[in-house]
Amino acid sequence: MESNGIVLIADDNENNLHVLSTMLRNSGYTVRVAKNGLQVLKSVGISLPELILLDIHMPEMDGYETCKRLKSNPDTKEIPVIFISALTETFNKIHAFESGAVDYITKPFQVEEVRVRVKTHLLLRRRTLELENALSEIKRVQSKLIQAEKMASLGVLSAGIAHEINNPINFVYAGINSLIKNFNELKAAIDELVAGFAGCSGECEKDLEKIKQRYHLDKKLKVIPELADDIKTGAVRTTEIVKGLRLFARSDQEPLVMSRIEEPLETALLLLKNKYKNKIQIIRQFNPDVPPIRCFPGQLSQAFINILDNAIDAIENNGKITISTDIDENLVKIEICDDGRGIAKDIQNKIFDPFFTTKAVGEGTGLGLAITHGIVEKHKGTIALKSSPGTGTCFTILLPINQ
Ligand SMILES: Nc1ncnc2c1ncn2[C@@H]1O[C@H](COP(=O)(O)OP(=O)(O)OP(=O)(O)O)[C@@H](O)[C@H]1O
Ligand SMILES: [Mg+2]
Repeated sequence: MESNGIVLIADDNENNLHVLSTMLRNSGYTVRVAKNGLQVLKSVGISLPELILLDIHMPEMDGYETCKRLKSNPDTKEIPVIFISALTETFNKIHAFESGAVDYITKPFQVEEVRVRVKTHLLLRRRTLELENALSEIKRVQSKLIQAEKMASLGVLSAGIAHEINNPINFVYAGINSLIKNFNELKAAIDELVAGFAGCSGECEKDLEKIKQRYHLDKKLKVIPELADDIKTGAVRTTEIVKGLRLFARSDQEPLVMSRIEEPLETALLLLKNKYKNKIQIIRQFNPDVPPIRCFPGQLSQAFINILDNAIDAIENNGKITISTDIDENLVKIEICDDGRGIAKDIQNKIFDPFFTTKAVGEGTGLGLAITHGIVEKHKGTIALKSSPGTGTCFTILLPINQ
């Protein structure tokens, strides 16, 4: 028969112990007994009961002290404690409740009353547990929904911005290249003209000098190419951001194909080789039993590039990156761990947000992990991280084997 619950009874009186445990066993409970407070603490240390019936007067350690200790231990503080005592003064009852009891029964007790109270408090405890679990599940789902919603609206916004910026930045980019080319030609013509006048004598040479000074010619010939270069750098950077935004919004359709997960991983490693060679050791721990999965390999490469790129950045001098694959029930598990600087706890929940970056201006757009997150979600997978500053960071991606 299935037990109705595990009850620990503590009483130094053999007769009470016998009566209570017989009654509770007959009502379907699993019963454990203790003769004093110390035995109670020892017993809960071995395995947790669901409810404790506690006498007050006991040798070694009384009920009040026992209850206080149970309530100060995180493992046992939620176990309901009912006092059963011959002490009938209000003072004793208040003391019992203050030390953490949920109920107080006076001796001589009525067996039926004890049974009903035990049943009620066990039920209350179980309902509370159910509510707590439901609440934490609601919170988990809620934060996932908020994240999904945020990503979806940011996706639409990003696609719009990328589209709007794309045309004008192309003009700037094409324009500046042609401007530099034209300027170089103009400069050659000016140099030629100046050289042509160089030989002329008297007024003519003076006139040339005057013109050069009036228009600050030498300075301008030097500054204009520098300015043009700055504009070009800005345009290149803007183009990169637009590219990142498009990847983040990802509307292009690559076909779903069967692929081994090692393939996009190797593509990512190949593309980043220049960045990590001579600096970082790559350790591959690929489980050959991992089956191919239906996926968008190009997008997965992008997702892995973004993670690996950060891992490389996080390693200051020399270090290692371990990439492992495995099967976890009906999921493929990919783990990418670095021994770099790690991520502070207070920013760990922000790193997937678009535009969140700790990198210097011009070094990171903050889109890398947002893109990765979107790609993993598109594969109906999950991504999580474990990191401690100074030790390193591990990203774990789980992707369903059968989509
Ligand atoms: N492996 C890692 N170790 C340490 N910090 C990391 C790691 N991965 C990510 N981060 C942190 O998360 C932030 C966000 O990463 P993300 O890839 O989204 O953007 P980014 O690298 O700053 O810029 P981008 O990738 O767009 O060039 C980084 O700025 C960095 O602070
Ligand atoms: Mg990055």
